[in-house]
Amino acid sequence: MLDKSASGPSSQLSGFSQRGWLHSYQMSRFGDVPFLPTALSKAEGCRVRDVDGTWYLDALSGAYCVNIGYGRQSVLDAASEAASSIHYVSPFSCTSPQAAAYSKALTDALDGFMGPESRIFFVNSGSEAIDAAIKLARAWHFVKGTGHKTILSRRGSYHGSTFGAATVSDSEFLKQVFGPMMGGAAKFPTSSCHICEFDETPDRCGVNCLGIDAPDPAALLVEAVETCVGTGLTHRDYYRRLRRIADDLGALLICDEVITGFGRTGALFACEKLNIRPDVLVLAKGITSGYEAMGAIVVRREVADAFLGDDSKTFFHGATFGARPGPAAAALASLDILLDEALPQAAARSEAIIRCQIEAKLTSRPSIRAFRGTGMLFSVDVDFHEGPARVHDIELLRQCIFEQGIINCLYSTKDDGFVDIAPPLICSEGDLEELVEGISKGFDKWENQRAKGDSA
Ligand SMILES: Cc1ncc(COP(=O)(O)O)c(C=O)c1O
Repeated sequence: MLDKSASGPSSQLSGFSQRGWLHSYQMSRFGDVPFLPTALSKAEGCRVRDVDGTWYLDALSGAYCVNIGYGRQSVLDAASEAASSIHYVSPFSCTSPQAAAYSKALTDALDGFMGPESRIFFVNSGSEAIDAAIKLARAWHFVKGTGHKTILSRRGSYHGSTFGAATVSDSEFLKQVFGPMMGGAAKFPTSSCHICEFDETPDRCGVNCLGIDAPDPAALLVEAVETCVGTGLTHRDYYRRLRRIADDLGALLICDEVITGFGRTGALFACEKLNIRPDVLVLAKGITSGYEAMGAIVVRREVADAFLGDDSKTFFHGATFGARPGPAAAALASLDILLDEALPQAAARSEAIIRCQIEAKLTSRPSIRAFRGTGMLFSVDVDFHEGPARVHDIELLRQCIFEQGIINCLYSTKDDGFVDIAPPLICSEGDLEELVEGISKGFDKWENQRAKGDSA
């Protein structure tokens, strides 16, 4: 019998993790610095507790996914009841009541901007869903006989970690490490006004970022709000014009709502809020609020209809674990909570509170350049040291904020660093005040230590 009792103080658990795991993102921290990842063992609402008993406010809903909050018994019960009856159903030949019920509930909720009778294809993550969307776009052009192959996505974007998703993402560094990337992909300018490639401002904007061209465009792939560039907001006329360009080019419009979906931006979907009419919608993360692994693409009916008919038209793409009964039941229960408790509307109301708190407690600091946000998705741009001191500077701020009881909020890439604020949508006004107050105290400590020349 294997020992399944992985318990003990954080130092011991972190020891396992330090020796045994090939960490993503954090591996470099395990070199000469004694870095201890936090071992979490309990959660409730918008808070998580480590194995030593300390509670933290979760600034990022885990990884932008626990939208309905932790410890929702109805979701846990729904998933376990479904799995106790039948834990696996092959999606290649069968379905389950849970998958059927969820498909109906989700497509009904999407009717407004996807049109009636859209169809869903289930996978297990956001990256898999992006790959499915890429393959679907190419398969659609194949059955239509257009010969279009190229997937166009925006510079600076992130769409996931599988090879397809990494190829349509844009990072020079990742290209150097993992290249050559997949063929048949091209980039067009970012739509995020704060990093405008044309040096324009929203009130002096010719929407030049819509210069999109490729000889054989299969799809335009965009995030409704560009998240990995620090919550990039877009000119109000952008999406109406993007839709027209997609139509003129004969390309599908794919919208990645892996982060922005399920209430995050103050509407159930950002497409609704921004009046976007995609052909394919990409979903994951908040789809089950992190209670189970699931991703999905939703395809507009007129597009999906192209695959009906004889065998040569079939969408030849599969996922063994697509739409298992447990995850489908969790997704249904999670959507039920989002709608029943009007959490998208709550997120819309929280926007003003977060904005006001950031303005009062953070923006006067010289180390803060700007902030942007919508709904409960905010980024604060931080002026970190340049060069070799950068990694320590980021690490020090992470630690200083963490010591105030705030977990998960620092997001950094090789070139950028943001404090992201995207907590569970159930946060009360008091929780949000506590969150920004904690971040602010973390900045106080960081600024003091920086002034004294300390490093992490
Ligand atoms: C916008 C966006 N799309 C897709 C993905 C990939 O999702 P997953 O990590 O579930 O594969 C991510 C992940 O963070 C993301 O931020």
